[in-house]
Amino acid sequence: MSIPTLESLHAIGALQQPTYPDRGALDDAVARLRTMPPLVFAGECDDLTDKLAAVTRGEAFLLQGGDCAETFAEVTADNVRNKLRVLLQMAVVMTYAGSVPVVKLGRLAGQYAKPRSSDEETRVVDGQEVTLPAYRGDVVNGFEFTPEARIPDPKRLLDAYNASAATLNLVRAFVTGGYADLRQVHTWNTDFVKTSPAGQRYEQLAGEIDKALSFMKAIGADPEELRRVDFHSSHEALLMEYEHAMTRVDSRTEQPYNVSGHFVWIGERTRQLDGAHVEYFRHIRNPIGVKLGPTATADDALALAAQLNPENTPGRLTFITRFGADKVREGLPGLVEKVTAEGVQVAWVCDPMHGNTFTSSTGYKTRRFDDVVGEVQGFFDVHRSLGTWPGGILVEMTGDDVTECIGGGEELDEHGLAHRYESVVDPRLNRVQSLELAFQVADMLRAVSP
Ligand code: PEP
Ligand code: CO
Repeated sequence: MSIPTLESLHAIGALQQPTYPDRGALDDAVARLRTMPPLVFAGECDDLTDKLAAVTRGEAFLLQGGDCAETFAEVTADNVRNKLRVLLQMAVVMTYAGSVPVVKLGRLAGQYAKPRSSDEETRVVDGQEVTLPAYRGDVVNGFEFTPEARIPDPKRLLDAYNASAATLNLVRAFVTGGYADLRQVHTWNTDFVKTSPAGQRYEQLAGEIDKALSFMKAIGADPEELRRVDFHSSHEALLMEYEHAMTRVDSRTEQPYNVSGHFVWIGERTRQLDGAHVEYFRHIRNPIGVKLGPTATADDALALAAQLNPENTPGRLTFITRFGADKVREGLPGLVEKVTAEGVQVAWVCDPMHGNTFTSSTGYKTRRFDDVVGEVQGFFDVHRSLGTWPGGILVEMTGDDVTECIGGGEELDEHGLAHRYESVVDPRLNRVQSLELAFQVADMLRAVSP
């Protein structure tokens, strides 16, 4: 199946796209991007589809995590390592305490485009109201609130490619080069995390894993699985220029794949059935996701599945629900029930972040840790009552000690947010909060595991 042209996707009226003032420069950048090597291979995407098929069957759990929006400035060795480290810690907690295989998926190496509720942003600067184009992610424009930074710049398409390549290269080196070796389980628990209650609980669990590893060594078992992990990349495929230029026909299967990330998803604001994003996604063979918020009906979900996965292949399609802690128990059952009754093969994943965002009295976009846990608990309860499998979670998190979400064991309050608030878009769980969430999810998994 050949993919529609970029022009035809724009003709449909792709939503959430920037307006580039310099068409010539845009065409040049897209043409250059089309010549760049793939960041991922089609075969790797197929491997992930197989893993997500196991999630669909209820045999594995997906942990998808990373920044709401990556930035070019944060492509550093420390930042990537810290993020990976907390994802490895979370995965090991869920695997060991939850007794279920965990599929590890980074929300990274491509998460550079953001949908916005408004095309413009107004701020008061020196007593005067100033309106500029909204920040749409580093692949489009700069976060700085100046006219120069906010003009969409086509050069950023190549910068995003290079930043993604550097990130993925480092991730690949970490996960295959010894850092992800299970015998390193203690070393991931460093500095401030180690002294937190979650860090101490982790230390105990790591001690048990150590004992199990010593036992295995003593009996002569030394499986390859201990030394490396499978890790894949994902992002919201939002910006048509970037995603289209990074779509290639795989020589092996002659099928088109998006080779800028293993898994790509359609956001809540761009999932219209007759929209350009659904039209594009229909044609690629990657495993894909669709966000479903509180306004999504069961019929919407069925129609999306029919469009995006007409062959009903398990692992191809993941529904990522994001209702909010106060709506999930009411809204999710109708969706899951009808989709399941129709025999639609889909992995159900909970995004407990995007339905729980609010602005603090101190002016920060934030989320309550308890709401995050509350939505995941609601998600598990709904699936348990329907006899379906709660397939995973998608979290916005960082490997650093930021102060962007309220609550958790450290009891961060509204006033504490100012201390280290670094996110350019949505608030992320910090490292301790992420680990705490992993233990809570492990408990939930234990309660539903056969
Ligand atoms: C996101 O995942 O950052 C996002 C924008 O989510 P949603 O599309 O669900 O609002
Ligand atoms: Co977000």
